[in-house]
Amino acid sequence: MSLEIISSSKEMTAWSMRQLGSGFTIGLVPTMGALHQGHLSLVHEAASGSDKVVVSIFVNPTQFGPNEDLEAYPRTLDEDIKALVQQGKADVVFAPSVREMYPLGANKTWVVVDELGDHLCGASRPGHFRGVTTVVARLFAIIQPTKSYFGLKDAQQFFILRRMSIEMSFQVELIGIPTVRERDGLALSSRNRYLSPEERKQAVALSRAVAIAKTLIEKNGETDSDKIIRAMKDELASVTLGVVDYVEIVEGEHLQPCKRLTSGMVVLAAIAYKFGKARLIDNSISIVPLRRIGRSRV
Ligand code: PAJ
Repeated sequence: MSLEIISSSKEMTAWSMRQLGSGFTIGLVPTMGALHQGHLSLVHEAASGSDKVVVSIFVNPTQFGPNEDLEAYPRTLDEDIKALVQQGKADVVFAPSVREMYPLGANKTWVVVDELGDHLCGASRPGHFRGVTTVVARLFAIIQPTKSYFGLKDAQQFFILRRMSIEMSFQVELIGIPTVRERDGLALSSRNRYLSPEERKQAVALSRAVAIAKTLIEKNGETDSDKIIRAMKDELASVTLGVVDYVEIVEGEHLQPCKRLTSGMVVLAAIAYKFGKARLIDNSISIVPLRRIGRSRV
């Protein structure tokens, strides 16, 4: 299969119109490049759920804060294209310039989702999610995908984009894909390459901590968020080379903290941890089991 590289949004829209006009569905995988197996798993899913697959590669400046890693963020377009050709599942790479996505310079038109960004990454990265929603809204407008695929590693991002998509009446179905991990559990991330070997060893504690939360909620029937947070923090105590950004438990619809978990609730247990300039995140999503008779043992 040949892979077409498109950088102009006009050409991108024309391509999509041709596909949709021929009755094909389009699956979009938005990325910032530096592709790894996590990204490729989204592309794989897109190819099994849609006739044509577009992967967008764009390091979006509006979602980076002034002291974040916009300049340092890895840009590896040639390698990304090679990985996609080798995988053989994508039809188009849409790789626009900043000018193409922000044609009038400093951006004035934003898509903002209230409330869902108040906690977790939204609290520690002010303005981040309005950059994400704005650029994804623009990608949806340019590409007109039938379905779009996102990783649940960025669960808050997924929930915010799903809300945006419904409330903006975008005719696209959003699909969340489970986190792809290294053998030892570390979630794959383009930012893992910033880690020193010693930090890399310690980073695995994040995945253990979110797994502990899932076990406590789903197997042990724990409903006290403070206890779950304490157990996660205990697990992170072995990590000495960085600092905790947040450890939080929020419910899955409005992404607000909740002290007491109730039956049937979807719960996100999330961590952000900073190793120098590498800010890593991980989470687990649990469904609180139906209430049991009597207290469970923890
Ligand atoms: P980026 O960090 O490049 O991630 C692109 C997509 O890959 C996101 O949906 C993310 O959740 C998913 N992903 C990353 N690591 C993953 C893993 N280990 N397993 C499964 N999926 C994983 O997220 C963004 O870019 C941007 O915010 C974007 C949505 C493209 C808007 O600019």
